Parts: sequence; C-alpha cells; structure tokens
Amino acid sequence: MQKIAAKVTDQLGFFETNDPTRLAEEYGTPLYVYNERILRQKCRELKGLVKYPNFVVDYSAKANSNLAFLQIVHSEGLEVDAMSPGEIYLELMAGFAPRQIFYICNNVSEEEMKYAIDKGVITSVDSLSQLEQYGRLNPGGEVAVRFNPGVGAGHHEKVVTAGKKTKFAVDAELVPQVKEILAKYDLKLIGINQHIGSLFMDGKAFTQSVASLLEIAKQFPGLEFIDMGGGFGIPYHKQTDEPPLDLADLGHHLDETLAAFAKEYGREVTFRIEPGRYISAECSVLLGTVHAVKENHGKKFIGTDIGFNVLQRPIMYDSFHGIEVFRSSDKKSTKEETVTVVGNICESGDILAKDRVLPEIFEGDTLAVLDAGAYGQVMSSNYNSRLRPAEILIRENGSVQLIRSRDTLDDLMRHQIPLEDESSNL
Ligand code: LLP
Repeated sequence: MQKIAAKVTDQLGFFETNDPTRLAEEYGTPLYVYNERILRQKCRELKGLVKYPNFVVDYSAKANSNLAFLQIVHSEGLEVDAMSPGEIYLELMAGFAPRQIFYICNNVSEEEMKYAIDKGVITSVDSLSQLEQYGRLNPGGEVAVRFNPGVGAGHHEKVVTAGKKTKFAVDAELVPQVKEILAKYDLKLIGINQHIGSLFMDGKAFTQSVASLLEIAKQFPGLEFIDMGGGFGIPYHKQTDEPPLDLADLGHHLDETLAAFAKEYGREVTFRIEPGRYISAECSVLLGTVHAVKENHGKKFIGTDIGFNVLQRPIMYDSFHGIEVFRSSDKKSTKEETVTVVGNICESGDILAKDRVLPEIFEGDTLAVLDAGAYGQVMSSNYNSRLRPAEILIRENGSVQLIRSRDTLDDLMRHQIPLEDESSNL
C-alpha cells in the first residue's frame, strides 16, 4: 500500500497495525472505522475538563449511537443524554442505568414522554406546554427544564439552538409561569439545562451562556444539577493545522464560575455537560473507494462510493472533512490537482468535497474521510435504495471487530408490505 496523503491518521496511529486498503477489501466500502484508544482518550479529556468535584459528562448519543460505541463510553464512566425513546432503548441495552440517562426531549407525544417516565429516566422539557404534559403524566414527579440562555453558537445556522432564532428551550422571562406549572402538578424541579448549539472553537459564547444559566438557576433553590450542554468543537481542518479547542483554558474559566456559584447557591449542585461531537468525531474515519475519474468541461471529478446517503454533513451544512488517499496499485504520481469528490447518488449536489486540492487520485484508490464519527453513520440513509455502511472497531490491541454489519438487500424488504391482490406475481 502507498500512503499518498496520510498525515493525520499517521500521527494518530489511527489504523494501529492495520492497512486501510486491506480493511477496505476485507469489509468492503463505504466503511466507518473507529479507533477504541482514541475514543477512550476523548472521554477522559472531557472528564478532566474542570476540577469542580461534582461534575458529570453525559455523552450525547445522537452523534453516534452504535451499541459497542455506547458500551465503551459507559465503561469510561460517562453518563448519556437521549433525544428519543430509541436512544433511551439503545442506552439501556448498552448497560446504562435509567438514572444515568438524561432525556432532553423536544415536542414529544405523551406516549414518548411516558416511555421515559416508565423507565425511570429523568426528563427535561423545553416548553410550557410540554411541562404541562409532563405534570399530567407524572404528577408529584421530578423533572428538569431546558432554558434558553439567550446566547447561541454553532458551525451553521441549522445547529444553533439558543438565542433568538430557535425552536428550543424556555425563555428566561417565563420563570414565573414555569413555577406555576411546577406548583400546579406538585413537580420537583431537580435540574435545569441548556444547549447553545453545535461546534464552538472558542469558549466565549459557552461561558457567557453558562453565566446566564446560573442566573436562572438562582431563581430555583432546590436544584440537584445544572447541565451546561454540549457543542465542544473539533478542528475539521487539521490537515492544515487548525488548532483544537483549548480545553484547559475553558476548564479554567468554568472552574472559577462554578466555584463562585456553588458558594453563593449554598447547596451542592452537580454540573453536567453533554458533548457528542468532541467524543465521537475524531475517533473515526470513513473509508471509500474511487470507482471513476473523469473530466467534464474542464472540471475533474473523482467518483466514489461515498454518497450523501453515507455522509450527509457536506451537503446538509457545507461541512468540510479532510480527505486522505491510500493506494493499493503501484501507480506513481507526485502531482496535486483541484478536483471535486462526488458520490454515487442521482443528484448533482452529491458532493463530498468541492474544488479541493488533493494529490492525483486514480481508480481503485481508497479514500479516508477524516473526523467521520460524529453525525456520520447515524445520519446515513437508504436513499436510492443503497445499503447503509458497516462499522468496524480497531481495538486497543490492534485487532478489528465488526460492530455493525452492512445492510443487505433483504433489509430493503424489511417492513415492506406487497400489495395483497398482486402478491401472486411476486
Ligand atoms: N445536547 C443537545 C440538547 C443537543 O441538541 C446536541 C446536539 C448536543 C447536546 C450535542 O452537541 P455536540 O456536542 O455534538 O455539538 N448534525 C449536526 C449537529 C447537530 C447537533 C444536534 N444537537 C452536524 O453534523 O454538525
């Protein structure tokens, strides 16, 4: 195998003792590859964010809810958030106790809310009407409320979840109404939470939002926890040396704020965060195969099997993912050129990387898309009746375990119900 561009995975020792082109051959592509050592390291980095003693990291499972992945996170002593009964279900399957799961729901039915209540999972609601619904379903129960701290952040407007333009959370001015509903149903507010949005690279907006959340907290004397949310960013441009988020600096600021609050509040409170991307993105690459190289009107296209059914982020948010190149053939080239890397979906917008300068790429090359572990496989689909990819885990000893098999054609028939009167033709 020739490593044509492999700086990032090389530095990380990402493939351990494995050859990526062999993995691609053995398991087929597209293929999500995870590295257990890096995943564990990311969990530990965030557990050490602050010195404040009552601190819990809830992994935000929406970023990656693979069962084996959740089991590793659980074994690192993290807890989890959930956005749906499906996530609660998977988290219970992965070994989390109900009290280690925090259900942060948004606009859910009575049935969904009841699922969490019946399982003994603490629920956070984010509107007055959902608080009423919770009160009707579980009078006298414990509940949390998600507030809008007024400050948002994120890599794209679609993922900013606080501030003035969002469907999420309860405005701080509505504290009196929240109190009324709590009293009406004899509910105990045990926690408040926020999530300002996904991916900040400097902690300013986050620390500002924490300060506003703590002002809200002071209006509720009996809180057991305050959840500051997720959004901790990772550098997607690491091939050009984009620096990582300065966790030490952020932790230092937070520590000052949390200690001051704890003193004033006069009661031991647990502080929580709920990072998804920071934990899951960098421990994964997505391998794909180049099946065609062509030029259309002076533009060079690299045709791969990584359509937007496999990785949606580039077309959904114009997101950038670094690309590395591995070659099993002995083709030689030191040329770089500007190319557009595309998938195999029937839309011209099916673009993984537009006008990107990359080493010359040939048919049969294996591409590794970096930082694919967050919002990658979980957002994949069967569009064009394509099969969702497999996932493998490189264990700490370098061995490889399949942790999700690729869809099969039979999976496309699961849940399909043929017409009754024409079934004889099938
Ligand atoms: N907590 C709540 C309530 C959330 O809604 C989210 C993400 C998180 C925590 C975790 O955020 P993180 O630490 O991963 O930034 N699909 C988009 C990101 C959507 C984020 C949705 N909510 C993407 O691919 O960038």
